[in-house]
Amino acid sequence: MHKRTLLQTAAALALLGASGLAMAQDNVFKIGLILPMTGQQATTGRQIEAAARLWMAQNGDTVAGKKVQLILKDDTSVPDVTRRLAQELVVNEKVNVLAGFGITPSALAVAPIATQSKTPLVVMAAATSSITEASPYVVRTSFTLPQAAVAMADWAPRNGIKNVVTLVTDYGPGLDAERFFKSRFEFNGGKVPEALRVPLRNPDFAPFLQKVRDLKPDALFVFVPSGAGAAVMKQFGERGMDKAGIRLIGTGDVTDDDQLNDMGDVALGVVTSHHYSAYHQSAANKKFVAEFQKANKGMRPNFMAVGGYDGMRVIYEALKKTGGKGGGDALLAAMKGQIFESPRGPVFIDAQTRDVVHNIYLRKVEKKDGQLHNVEFDVIKDVKDPGKTK
Ligand code: DHB
Repeated sequence: MHKRTLLQTAAALALLGASGLAMAQDNVFKIGLILPMTGQQATTGRQIEAAARLWMAQNGDTVAGKKVQLILKDDTSVPDVTRRLAQELVVNEKVNVLAGFGITPSALAVAPIATQSKTPLVVMAAATSSITEASPYVVRTSFTLPQAAVAMADWAPRNGIKNVVTLVTDYGPGLDAERFFKSRFEFNGGKVPEALRVPLRNPDFAPFLQKVRDLKPDALFVFVPSGAGAAVMKQFGERGMDKAGIRLIGTGDVTDDDQLNDMGDVALGVVTSHHYSAYHQSAANKKFVAEFQKANKGMRPNFMAVGGYDGMRVIYEALKKTGGKGGGDALLAAMKGQIFESPRGPVFIDAQTRDVVHNIYLRKVEKKDGQLHNVEFDVIKDVKDPGKTK
């Protein structure tokens, strides 16, 4: 009898403990943030982490009565690692949202997990068009390469550039950039005699640039992922290609704000198309840049930081709207259709495609107050991803 009571008590306590834990869990909202914090894409991780933490410092960590917890994991930009970390975050940590994803293969590796577990997956960096089609739970706050590349393919032929060699990193976003630049540029009467591709891992640009020098096009169109731009610029300068009259154009990934100021004079005059410049002249951006730099000495926010910052906003707003009730489906529904002012300008999360709609700017590298900046000189408003197949 005595023994039974003890057992009952123990069971009751265990139950109480469990429900206490469940209650604590219920009051926590977990964001599993998977980023490349080390390895070749580490600057992407560093920028997005800094921006996510800035968002939380500015907006608090309590939303709709829930304590927001950011769980940061380093996937070293290896997709198998991304997948394993996402699995652990969903199964063991029971995260409410998966976010981050520095490169396309990492985002694609996790898409099936998002679908199976009905967990919204907020893509803050990766930019291949098709990612949003890999799962109905994907929402993107970064950008797409077709958005940026088409704008450049329209600008170039109107500015004396008729003959262009393309040079892209050989994976999703590079292939998108190449295809959309080339088809639009040719439609506009331009010629692309050669389309060169370099590997993602440890690229050596030298032999490709030598080939471009021999071909002597009006311009070289470049896409490389964030972090690789400085190497391209350096070798472009070393081969005297600018002096030989070959212009460098591209999507803004190559004049990445994270590295731009250290690229030297070879970068001056380079024209790119992109959705974000740290030099964007709006009150919202000036505040963002100032507070980012205050919190992260010596760092200038780049387009990755803005993808992370806006991603946090989309998550916070969805949590607010749902009042902290409902699961992944409710959160996802509340993410769709959001409209807000980002440091990049106006942003809209298209409810049909779950992709970001924003302005694409044409920018030229200029020296302002002794620093190199992407200075915007034209804008194409509210650009939807031209790459969508449905
Ligand atoms: C991707 C990565 C980048 O660093 C970038 O600038 C654009 C796209 C990607 O892997 O999707």
